[in-house]
Amino acid sequence: MRTQKIVTVLCLLLNTVLGALLGIDYGQEFTKAVLVAPGVPFEVILTPDSKRKDNSMMAIKENSKGEIERYYGSSASSVCIRNPETCLNHLKSLIGVSIDDVSTIDYKKYHSGAEMVPSKNNRNTVAFKLGSSVYPVEEILAMSLDDIKSRAEDHLKHAVPGSYSVISDAVITVPTFFTQSQRLALKDAAEISGLKVVGLVDDGISVAVNYASSRQFNGDKQYHMIYDMGAGSLQATLVSISSSDDGGIVIDVEAIAYDKSLGGQLFTQSVYDILLQKFLSEHPSFSESDFNKNSKSMSKLWQAAEKAKTILSANTDTRVSVESLYNDIDFRATIARDEFEDYNAEHVHRITAPIIEALSHPLNGNLTSPFPLTSLSSVILTGGSTRVPMVKKHLESLLGSELIAKNVNADESAVFGSTLRGVTLSQMFKAKQMTVNERSVYDYCLKVGSSEINVFPVGTPLATKKVVELENVDSENQLTIGLYENGQLFASHEVTDLKKSIKSLTQEGKECSNINYEATVELSESRLLSLTRLQAKCADEAEYLPPVDTESEDTKSENSTTSETIEKPNKKLFYPVTIPTQLKSVHVKPMGSSTKVSSSLKIKELNKKDAVKRSIEELKNQLESKLYRVRSYLEDEEVVEKGPASQVEALSTLVAENLEWLDYDSDDASAKDIREKLNSVSDSVAFIKSYIDLNDVTFDNNLFTTIYNTTLNSMQNVQELMLNMSEDALSLMQQYEKEGLDFAKESQKIKIKSPPLSDKELDNLFNTVTEKLEHVRMLTEKDTISDLPREELFKLYQELQNYSSRFEAIMASLEDVHSQRINRLTDKLRKHIERVSNEALKAALKEAKRQQEEEKSHEQNEGEEQSSASTSHTNEDIEEPSESPKVQTSHDEL
Ligand SMILES: *[C@@H]1O[C@H](CO)[C@@H](O)[C@H](O)[C@H]1NC(C)=O
Ligand SMILES: *[C@@H]1O[C@H](CO)[C@@H](O)[C@H](O)[C@H]1NC(C)=O
Ligand SMILES: *[C@@H]1O[C@H](CO)[C@@H](O)[C@H](O)[C@H]1NC(C)=O
Ligand SMILES: *[C@@H]1O[C@H](CO)[C@@H](O)[C@H](O)[C@H]1NC(C)=O
Ligand SMILES: *[C@@H]1O[C@H](CO)[C@@H](O)[C@H](O)[C@H]1NC(C)=O
Repeated sequence: MRTQKIVTVLCLLLNTVLGALLGIDYGQEFTKAVLVAPGVPFEVILTPDSKRKDNSMMAIKENSKGEIERYYGSSASSVCIRNPETCLNHLKSLIGVSIDDVSTIDYKKYHSGAEMVPSKNNRNTVAFKLGSSVYPVEEILAMSLDDIKSRAEDHLKHAVPGSYSVISDAVITVPTFFTQSQRLALKDAAEISGLKVVGLVDDGISVAVNYASSRQFNGDKQYHMIYDMGAGSLQATLVSISSSDDGGIVIDVEAIAYDKSLGGQLFTQSVYDILLQKFLSEHPSFSESDFNKNSKSMSKLWQAAEKAKTILSANTDTRVSVESLYNDIDFRATIARDEFEDYNAEHVHRITAPIIEALSHPLNGNLTSPFPLTSLSSVILTGGSTRVPMVKKHLESLLGSELIAKNVNADESAVFGSTLRGVTLSQMFKAKQMTVNERSVYDYCLKVGSSEINVFPVGTPLATKKVVELENVDSENQLTIGLYENGQLFASHEVTDLKKSIKSLTQEGKECSNINYEATVELSESRLLSLTRLQAKCADEAEYLPPVDTESEDTKSENSTTSETIEKPNKKLFYPVTIPTQLKSVHVKPMGSSTKVSSSLKIKELNKKDAVKRSIEELKNQLESKLYRVRSYLEDEEVVEKGPASQVEALSTLVAENLEWLDYDSDDASAKDIREKLNSVSDSVAFIKSYIDLNDVTFDNNLFTTIYNTTLNSMQNVQELMLNMSEDALSLMQQYEKEGLDFAKESQKIKIKSPPLSDKELDNLFNTVTEKLEHVRMLTEKDTISDLPREELFKLYQELQNYSSRFEAIMASLEDVHSQRINRLTDKLRKHIERVSNEALKAALKEAKRQQEEEKSHEQNEGEEQSSASTSHTNEDIEEPSESPKVQTSHDEL
């Protein structure tokens, strides 16, 4: 039996989800998410309105009560039109970017909505002021990620019922040009939302992984170009795909080129500009700068531009119509695709430039340069903006239509591919063997003073580590090592007291004349650079003895015996010294860990409030539909004819009042308020129903005598049981006393769920019921029952019935508690008696043995002592029972 149970439990455990990974393709315009978990199909997480992608957008609003309302994705977009000042979109271009960066200034030009402010702690990054609160961009993104995460968790809960549905790992797509601070900011946002980032996966690689995962590769290496034009940027990635000896797939990144700002948003901006010029030329009295001060007008025009751009992808012209665009003036205009293309003529060369650049600048030095277009197997187009006719046209003119791959889902290949990549990186699940060799597109350098080391030049494979020797570390006491990405200083490691750090290499009698400084630098899979260790080593060749391990000075002095034994005469022994450094971010500072924690708490708090609000809304809906049901119930013929008239009237008033309350007064209602209303309506309905059910019953003397007897009986049963209980306890107590045990103490030690009513409450109940019964007895004796109205009699009858069933319930629970207690106490007593008699037996045996031996040694000795078989004392402390057991208390009241 028992083993079977364990097996079942194990099966349950195996059924539950042991790990889940969320893949997120976070775009400038749209965000998509995919979940991988055992037992769940590898599928897109749908939005609340069942779409496969959601707008990368939020709106945060403070309502009149000062409460914060948050809207996510597409539900934010309608809020954005009405309240542009609450609107937060296109944040990808702002995350991890300084407030004075070009992209921030660009952003301001087309987003006059939410007020942009510098974030706290001089981080030099962007935050938004909404109502009375300031939200750093990372925090806003964290809320969006948190929303996706909770939707994925709901999905998981439904797909695998009973699973442990908390998702804690994620993989997020990034454009290849994202800098250290942008990458760190993304990670921070994920961390705030409770997601650990197992990898930041390059957009192009994601598509390549998705492409390769669904195809067979055997034979020659194939070259594919991934052309990804999203809303914010354009990226061309040249990869080679081949099969490895063990049947897996190898993807090598051969070249990447990009345009950081050519994408859908730029095209929308151009439509916006064209439309604005049309409007202004119709109304020359308005200036562009005035128009751009009106955020509502701007966001209306932006939406119109967005829509027109989409229509122009399939049509040669479109009509635009915006009501009350500016100063209450409606705007109507026609825009043609030709106008759009003319306006963007200056950008046309940018459409194909990254392809040409990627082909001519391979990251892998082995590739022929320029790589011939004819050697490509295909060009895979992804990203929504590749559907823009102008883009398609220019791609075809360069590539011809043959090369462009068909049957690739332009929208979802990145999210699926990045998730597959995440599966490999996280090693959470078994997956098809796929090796991806990524390469850096930036140089990563260290600089000390004027000397610069290019540690990881462009083309360096990622997930790598290198130890470099620093030159020109002069004898100054301070040392600053600058970290550069793509020629840009982004952080520095500083040593404030170098002399102290290298003391052990320079102390008296052991001076090292030649010190080398070595830095260990790592470039992670997510292309994050870190200096993980700085060491000083003595380079006095003859005198330097390498230690067993790279131990610090502290451990050396602790274990002095070792150095003594190794040290040879006239030789100095030096251990490498690890120099502590302080990491300082330059220009853009990432969030500190305490800020992240407080952001995370802030979001949790908001979530909690939202959950309360949601449950109140649900209760209100429940109440509302109940009220409508009850209202129609009260109109039933049966209720009208046979119902208790006064109660029916009272309830119908209550229903009307409650409906009114819901409409006008329920804004500040608590869940408790609403539940109370629900209950009072339910009670009243129950009353009416049972009244009607008993329609055929005559409430006469007979009926009341019976119910009187039933109720009285059930009360007396409880009282008798209590008496029996105290008798049981008394007899057990006597046995305890006989054994010299403290009954009260032992009894108190037993923890059993207490009965539903205390002794005092029971007493009160007995009194109330006795009074009620007395009243009924008088009525029946005087035979005045028939004088009373039926409704009153029904109430009285119900009351007695209620008491009677309550007594039955009390009886059952008292019996249960009592028998458990008595059983345990009896058990204790039995064990005690057994133990005592065992000890006595042992003592007797011992004594017998002793006597035997005594008899042996002094044979003629008298050994008449009796062994004391009946021991009445034990090692346990014996206490007099100090008070009589509790069970007895109510017995006197009978
Ligand atoms: C480049 O070519 C050299 C020599 O042919 C070879 O050893 C090396 O593995 C190649 N590197 C890559 C990344 O293909
Ligand atoms: C010193 O190191 C040796 C070997 O590494 C070890 O066996 C010994 O316990 C150490 N002594 C002390 C005092 O830590
Ligand atoms: C009620 O109980 C009394 C006494 O216990 C008995 O005489 C009487 O017949 C009972 N009446 C009914 C209706 O059971
Ligand atoms: C109380 O004990 C008596 C005698 O053991 C028994 O007949 C009776 O049924 C008990 N009453 C209850 C309510 O348990
Ligand atoms: C009995 O009455 C109490 C108090 O009026 C009520 O809460 C309870 O639900 C009723 N019980 C039954 C079984 O009708």
